[in-house]
Amino acid sequence: AAPKPLVGRHALVTSGPTHEPIDPVRYIANRSSGKQGHAVAAALAALGARVTLVSGPVRLPDPAGVNVVAVETASEMLTACRAALPADIFVAAAAVADWRVEAAGQKLKKRDGGGPPALTLTENPDILATLSTTGPYRPELVVGFAAETNDVVAYARAKRLRKGCDWIVANDVSPATGTFGGDRNSVHVIRADGTEEAWENLAKTEVASRLAAAISNHFVNGKK
Ligand code: C5P
Repeated sequence: AAPKPLVGRHALVTSGPTHEPIDPVRYIANRSSGKQGHAVAAALAALGARVTLVSGPVRLPDPAGVNVVAVETASEMLTACRAALPADIFVAAAAVADWRVEAAGQKLKKRDGGGPPALTLTENPDILATLSTTGPYRPELVVGFAAETNDVVAYARAKRLRKGCDWIVANDVSPATGTFGGDRNSVHVIRADGTEEAWENLAKTEVASRLAAAISNHFVNGKK
């Protein structure tokens, strides 16, 4: 049988986009497919972890052996993540909307000659920063993602510090890379000890397996 080094560990993973309602029938969303986050959840489960996957709306099957909590908004995602604590591992792979709309209770109507409605945006909670820095249940190992279009490593290093996470997995999402919605990814893994590794042009499932292996090494060897 395959070794299960993460038996006894609880891993919390976020994945997918969030949908932020404008009114009862409309929402703001983004192009995240959830493929990378779902693959990370599956890879951690394959190493024996108990996995809670808090996912925004995606068109993907639930990974085998994973407890999936379906949410729509960033606020719901934060609530579901808090409810899932304590966890040993937190991997934030969701593309959380930065803003929500002050949503109307009823469908907005087109007004003859009245012009379009103005949408008032409010900042969403930062789930990664919140779980990294607050509460008595900070997971032992917190891994964030950073999607950048330029100066990927420099921006990701700054983001790791700002978010308070231990590692950050940075990828180049400039349109030419096809990362968003695609099946492949090239990432840089940046750790608190300053080390950086480049994992080039891999299937998202392979990125997930390597990340799960690195996480399990951390718990076996104590490498941050
Ligand atoms: O700031 P930025 O959105 O680039 O940060 C990306 C990282 O932060 C990802 O790990 C993402 O899941 C997480 N994040 C979050 N909550 C937010 C925004 C981002 O958990 N509101």
